[in-house]
Amino acid sequence: MSTEHNEHTQGDNTVNYEVKSPILETLGISKAYKVGGTLVSPVTDVSMQVGYGDFCVIFGPSGAGKTTLLGMLMGLEKPDIGEVFFKGSSIFGYSEDQRTMIRRKRVGFLTQSQYWIEGMKLVDNVALPLYVQGWRRSKARKESKQILEKVGLHDMSNRNPLDLSAGEQQKAALARALIKKPWIIYADEPTAHLDSESVVDFTNVLLATSEELGITVVMVTHDLNFLKLSKKWFFMQDGRLWDIADKRNPFTDIRQAIAYIEGQEAENGGAL
Ligand SMILES: Nc1ncnc2c1ncn2[C@@H]1O[C@H](COP(=O)(O)OP(=O)(O)OP(=O)(O)O)[C@@H](O)[C@H]1O
Ligand SMILES: [Mg+2]
Repeated sequence: MSTEHNEHTQGDNTVNYEVKSPILETLGISKAYKVGGTLVSPVTDVSMQVGYGDFCVIFGPSGAGKTTLLGMLMGLEKPDIGEVFFKGSSIFGYSEDQRTMIRRKRVGFLTQSQYWIEGMKLVDNVALPLYVQGWRRSKARKESKQILEKVGLHDMSNRNPLDLSAGEQQKAALARALIKKPWIIYADEPTAHLDSESVVDFTNVLLATSEELGITVVMVTHDLNFLKLSKKWFFMQDGRLWDIADKRNPFTDIRQAIAYIEGQEAENGGAL
């Protein structure tokens, strides 16, 4: 893996950062929709790089285009202009079936809410990605139990997932992502429906497991816990995205970004 060091100054702050060979890279991607007679552009000319093993956070106000961007990064939605490269290949150079296969096998995805197959124990719900790949039941269950242990849910493997608390369900969803040994995990506001204690618990488990297993994480969040812990973050507003390492970033450092989010939360009565 090639690395080089870059340095530039932002006002009085000098930012040192390491440019690793990227697992994920976009070149000038844009997406627009026609709503009624008007053109809406949720994502405009976004170029970004995420290095192997990075834990990165995308934040910004509601309607900024974050979910639309994630859809393109995951290869679900083709940009109108620009390219998305994943592990060095253009993701839209693959057929739709190939992209589905890559996601199914080696990409994790976490959202605000989880979906479970009713009447199936937790151990089997978490093993589902392996059953789909044709794994033997006993082998897949063994793997599932190991992963459930990693996220702190080992003693719950025989439970109905719907009986678990919201925080436990999100950790179970993480286990179901981790069981694929994913190259990358995408997450769209995974802590939005959790109480503050569960947020801290889930944050710690996600950080520890992704670091231990060397998994790249790209997460959309408003959560300050993640923002404070992540070294790599992007700000998105009106379809445009800035890297912290970019001189044109509206914030000169992370403290300004956090103050901005706290200000937005206060304006919106505690929620973004
Ligand atoms: N398929 C679509 N058709 C029309 N407009 C769309 C479509 N998808 C997204 N948009 C518009 O693009 C804008 C950005 O939406 P997006 O969901 O990406 O924002 P977001 O940053 O994820 O917001 P939030 O924080 O509320 O989840 C919104 O104005 C939305 O209405
Ligand atoms: Mg969204």
